[in-house]
Amino acid sequence: MSQPLKNTPARQSQKTKDDALRPHVYDGIEEFDKRLPNWWLWTLYSAMIFSVAYWFIMHQAGADFSPQATIEQKLARLQAEAAARATGPLNDDQLWALSLNSETVSAGKATFLATCAACHGENLQGGIGFNLADNEWVHGGRPTEIVHTITNGVVEKGMQAWGSQLGERKIQEVAAFILSHHKKPDATQ
Ligand code: HEC
Repeated sequence: MSQPLKNTPARQSQKTKDDALRPHVYDGIEEFDKRLPNWWLWTLYSAMIFSVAYWFIMHQAGADFSPQATIEQKLARLQAEAAARATGPLNDDQLWALSLNSETVSAGKATFLATCAACHGENLQGGIGFNLADNEWVHGGRPTEIVHTITNGVVEKGMQAWGSQLGERKIQEVAAFILSHHKKPDATQ
């Protein structure tokens, strides 16, 4: 077993003045105690900061940029656009899709405030007419049933038939506005 080399002048010249030799020697191999380069350190620090920010934004602040969420948003928009283009009566899914479309919902809100709020309340809380924000429906809570009630009314009970006055489009918008206060039940329900 040969003795490890001492710091000869030749070896001494390899190290800069900051680099101390580390105390251990393995098989005659010695190691400088080098400072990590700045670019390396900054990569580490940035990664640490990034990971905390990422954890906070994605897992604590509720932001969801996952492909699943993006697809759902896009799908809802496409369905709403398809529903808006469609003529004739819409089905439940199309009406639910419309209820996610902010333009349709705000158009429906305007109609609601002008025509329905007097009896159903500005916040759909009810009054002369029923509460439209809760989950109790006398004439059916499926989107098509709501459209049917609005169109044909419950004339003997004081709810006018709005079909001829508002027309199909506006009734769909109002229904979308009402539905925007509700959650679409799961497909299994
Ligand atoms: C003059 C008052 C009045 C106005 C205006 C009015 N409603 Fe009504 N609405 C009623 C009454 C009263 C009922 C309850 C009918 C009954 O007793 O069955 C009702 C019932 C309903 C229902 C059925 C609720 C359920 O539980 O099934 C819907 C939906 C509805 N109204 C939507 C509308 C919309 C949308 C408008 C505006 C376009 C509107 N109403 C305007 C008085 C009104």
